[in-house]
Amino acid sequence: MAVSVKDKVVLIVGASSGIGLSTAELFARDGAKVMASARREERLLKLQTKLTSEGCALEIMAADATKPDEMERLAAETEKQLGRIEILVFATGTNTPDRAMSRLKVDIWDMMINVNLSSAYYVTRAVLPAMRAARDGHLIYISSISGLLADASGASYQAAKRGLLGLAHATRLEEKENGIRTCVICPGMVDTELLEKRPVKPTAEALKLAMQPEDIADMVLAVAKLPPRAVVPEMQIMPTYM
Ligand SMILES: NC(=O)c1ccc[n+]([C@@H]2O[C@H](COP(=O)([O-])OP(=O)(O)OC[C@H]3O[C@@H](n4cnc5c(N)ncnc54)[C@H](OP(=O)(O)O)[C@@H]3O)[C@@H](O)[C@H]2O)c1
Repeated sequence: MAVSVKDKVVLIVGASSGIGLSTAELFARDGAKVMASARREERLLKLQTKLTSEGCALEIMAADATKPDEMERLAAETEKQLGRIEILVFATGTNTPDRAMSRLKVDIWDMMINVNLSSAYYVTRAVLPAMRAARDGHLIYISSISGLLADASGASYQAAKRGLLGLAHATRLEEKENGIRTCVICPGMVDTELLEKRPVKPTAEALKLAMQPEDIADMVLAVAKLPPRAVVPEMQIMPTYM
């Protein structure tokens, strides 16, 4: 039977738009105690205002996930305001229009690895000690189908998304004896602001076939509701046409 997320403390990083925002809305509406974080504070405030008007509570904190000290502060502040973090959802990510090897530069490569991969490590290390002490925790990462299959998303994006799978799987093997689970969700195309970073924008026809962010949020919630005896280490979700 599904475990309720009511009153569970959930930290969502990358919650100002797209998949992270939809996930924050879904968990808050389901009664979880959500801390929503990203850099754009005005977007987080808009999300908070919307949920408050629906009678749901949600805390927000602006933070840059590529800064390890900001992730430490985010974890500490979440614990102070809401209690022990039970679930982490990592939905931070970006891509670059200069993704082709012929255009990629060292600074773009570094930014891509920082935002898509290193930030996941920074927030993971910030939340793990308290999860270990409580012998309970669920780390849910949004990677991409590009982490599993070769496609046109670019070398830096694919390397980072594959790296995220490595981070999650290694963490699970080491931490399962401490009651900690990990899940990596690998979506195909979702209609979010990320698609604006493509060198060629998807057509209206292509967008009609894409998934919506709430489709991925539904998966995150389903994984979070599994009883502690069950884990989904990795899952793919894609538009039906793929
Ligand atoms: N859309 C797709 O087709 C698709 C498919 C597969 C996987 N994904 C993955 O899904 C995840 C979410 O993407 P999305 O599609 O929902 O795109 P999105 O709407 O652009 O959301 C990206 C989120 O990441 C946050 N972010 C970016 N840099 C950050 C930083 N340095 N610190 C903190 N937060 C940061 C953004 O917030 P701020 O800018 O406010 O910081 C935003 O909340 C990404 O990892 C993406 O690669 C997307």
